[in-house]
Amino acid sequence: MDIKSIKENGVIFTPQWVVDFMVEEIFANRKIKGNEKMLDAGCGEGVFATTIVRKFAELSGKRVEKVIEENIYFIDILKKHIKSTKQNLQKLSTKKIKKYNAINSDFCFHEFGERFDFIIGNPPYVRIQNLNDRREQLQKKYITASNGSVDLYFCFFEQALKLLNKGGKISFITPNSHFYSSAGKNLRQLILQHIIKIVNFDHFQVFKDATTYTAITFLQKEKASNFLYTENYKNNFNELEYKNILTQHMKPERWEFFDGKYLDKIIKLNKKYSALQEIADIHYGIATLKDDIYIFSPEATDNFFYYFNNHKIEKDLCVPIIKASTYKGKDQNLFLIFPYKNEKIISSAVMRQHYTEAYKYFLSQRNILATRDKGGGINYEEFYAFGRNQGLKTSFGKKIITSTMNISPRFFVIENEKTSFYAGYCVKPKHNIDMYELSKALNSDLMKEHISSVSKSYRGGYKSYAKSFLKDFVHPQFYKSQPTLF
Ligand SMILES: C[S@@+](CC[C@H](N)C(=O)[O-])C[C@H]1O[C@@H](n2cnc3c(N)ncnc32)[C@H](O)[C@@H]1O
Repeated sequence: MDIKSIKENGVIFTPQWVVDFMVEEIFANRKIKGNEKMLDAGCGEGVFATTIVRKFAELSGKRVEKVIEENIYFIDILKKHIKSTKQNLQKLSTKKIKKYNAINSDFCFHEFGERFDFIIGNPPYVRIQNLNDRREQLQKKYITASNGSVDLYFCFFEQALKLLNKGGKISFITPNSHFYSSAGKNLRQLILQHIIKIVNFDHFQVFKDATTYTAITFLQKEKASNFLYTENYKNNFNELEYKNILTQHMKPERWEFFDGKYLDKIIKLNKKYSALQEIADIHYGIATLKDDIYIFSPEATDNFFYYFNNHKIEKDLCVPIIKASTYKGKDQNLFLIFPYKNEKIISSAVMRQHYTEAYKYFLSQRNILATRDKGGGINYEEFYAFGRNQGLKTSFGKKIITSTMNISPRFFVIENEKTSFYAGYCVKPKHNIDMYELSKALNSDLMKEHISSVSKSYRGGYKSYAKSFLKDFVHPQFYKSQPTLF
């Protein structure tokens, strides 16, 4: 495939496992009469056309060659793609296909004589800047293309909705950038009430040759007030868990997919009770950006030094630290070399004089430390400064810590005020709240329900416990009016 073809026409072929799912789903709960019209929009070599023809023949009981001649239409801007789709359709039958409903034209400008019951495909992903002479015409014709840095696939959605019959369905796999981009606002507005289902692949890469963050969207002609949403980070569709999303909760500036029933519940709860962010502060842990240099398990110790890997470090430059992502409530025997005083980096002059051994150690690791921030590490105030200044103060003190990813809630009270932490978050109550009572609330089933409704899922059943999700957690023990809780 030549580069120009990829750039101007967004040519990328869809894997069969994705096509099978989209075809299966587009026909779900649908009685097929046999006269429905189907369109493969941007057919490429015809992976959607061939798959949907086979399935339609099975569901309708019609012969494959009849389905090809009467039911399937396919369009592509490139002649060679029309030719290969015809060849691939012919391969489905031993009888000669007498007629193809093939359209070698631009989907966005072709005058279609018919409307369709099923429109399926993987529209081209082409930034409007790369569309040269077609750019202005697209902007004039399509409301979804009128605004900023849009993409050709926006127009495919708009055109497909226009071409859809009553009771009809669309299934497209496209990038998901219009969920949140400002250019995607008109597209969001146009399709929101037509969505039946979204399967969001997000960071999971569906296409081998291109880095794209994609989603499959199913639309219908009729308007509805809710749809199903799921995230999928694997190359099969087993065990998907869908959330029911109410369109009224979708903000026009950016789509976030919160479970409808749950949102209703927390809106009600929130009238009476506080959210976590109102009763507590949530902080990130320490971020050195080279943990294996700063954090160690001592092999030996004496009055003045810790010893590890043939190095020795002054004890009073070190603090105990907890790795929140692996913490199970037991001492991890980890220490952090902490070259800071009152949140300020200790100067190299002081280091040389008072912390000679630690300074020597840092010097021996200088080249590695400099690689942090893609080489920007050479510009830190001192070469041994942490990669980020977060948590220099807030990671100390009494707190409740958790990992950034958990299968179910795992919050631990840390009593020792001199212990720092990393690879997670801490919750610190603002008022005089009993830490153990608060940690009970954070470890409750309500938290599990909250996270599974608002947060992202990852492989192995892990959910993100990021601050952006934790902050909105509402619990009936977070009283609104009383400053002293529990
Ligand atoms: C992402 S590829 C998908 C190909 C095929 N459907 C598949 O999934 O393997 C997009 C296809 O749309 C075609 N295409 C690009 N711009 C088009 C346009 N304006 N109208 C019709 N087809 C177009 C390309 O030639 C290419 O075959």
